[in-house]
Amino acid sequence: MGNIILTGDRPTGKLHLGHYIGSLQRRVQLQNEGNYDKMFVFMADVQALTDNADNPEKIRQNIIEVALDYLAAGLDPEKCTIFIQSQIPELSELTTYLMNLVTVSRIQRNPTVKTEIKMRNFEANIPLGFFCYPISQAADIALFKSTTVPVGEDQEPMIEVTREVVRRFNQTYGEVLVEPQILLPENTVCRRLPGTDGKEKMSKSLGNCIYLSDSADEVWQKVRSMFTDPDHLRVDDPGKVEGNAVFTYLDAFSTDNDFANYWPDYKNLDELKDHYRRGGLGDMKCKKFLNTIINNMLEPMRQRRKEFEQDIPEIYNILKKGTDKARETAAQTMDEVRKAMRIDYFNDTELIKQQSERFKNQK
Ligand code: TRP
Repeated sequence: MGNIILTGDRPTGKLHLGHYIGSLQRRVQLQNEGNYDKMFVFMADVQALTDNADNPEKIRQNIIEVALDYLAAGLDPEKCTIFIQSQIPELSELTTYLMNLVTVSRIQRNPTVKTEIKMRNFEANIPLGFFCYPISQAADIALFKSTTVPVGEDQEPMIEVTREVVRRFNQTYGEVLVEPQILLPENTVCRRLPGTDGKEKMSKSLGNCIYLSDSADEVWQKVRSMFTDPDHLRVDDPGKVEGNAVFTYLDAFSTDNDFANYWPDYKNLDELKDHYRRGGLGDMKCKKFLNTIINNMLEPMRQRRKEFEQDIPEIYNILKKGTDKARETAAQTMDEVRKAMRIDYFNDTELIKQQSERFKNQK
């Protein structure tokens, strides 16, 4: 069994720095290292609809935004199969069968589902489709026999459910599906990037995002007003770097090279942090440095995005081709699943023969 990488994003908005550092950057690296047999990246529109059922137009309009972000970030349709979740009916089929192998209480205990129910005020009335989305996600992963799922830390409980369901399936029906491994970012600050307001998570609904497609000016406006240390009032005051979003971002994005190139007064981030802690270092200088780093990283993406935006029909071609290719793998796995589950009636000549005999002998 080879190395099969799979991951996806809900198309509810443009992708932001949290997506990039949590997973997208890693996917591009994995893709370019080429150390895999198959790689799939998809837009999880079925999952997005589980809490946007009344707003399908939002999902429809954001498919293209996410596709453009993928291509701009460096995903290459020659090397990785990019597809749209809803166009793979085999996913719904597998979801239906996997639901038989999980209990309601197991999903109720899932920490990610719990947080989302609170966030969306679903407590009194949870849509059933939303409640079942972890199983749908398990089907996404299992259908492609994925071995490696590069995602942020918040997805850990989903991968855990997937592993359990796959184990149950294989015990019940025979070894068909594969237990996946989660691949978290090595740098722990990249696992959950805080928002520009310092809140726990960068998220569209909190309005604290820097988008990959923001202009240089938009990035500066956002970086300039970033949350720092509220007690660092005067430049000479000692400052705190813990919980200071500017320093968390520097942890995530800066390299020693950036210091050599743009701020040679310091050898590395540790030296900068020491100075900030001692006092005598202003927030604005740190923000300017961070702005340079982020904009250097985003500039090539902005340019590539501009180019791809010139030919939207071609982007849909790429998605169509990727979807057709993904369906081939999906169909193969479903053949195996149906056979293992004994629901391959029309392909099972042995079944028909045996039953013919049985009914004949009854006479
Ligand atoms: N739940 C993921 C998110 O919110 C999206 C997703 C759906 C996914 N299916 C997946 C990620 C399968 C990895 C593998 O971002």
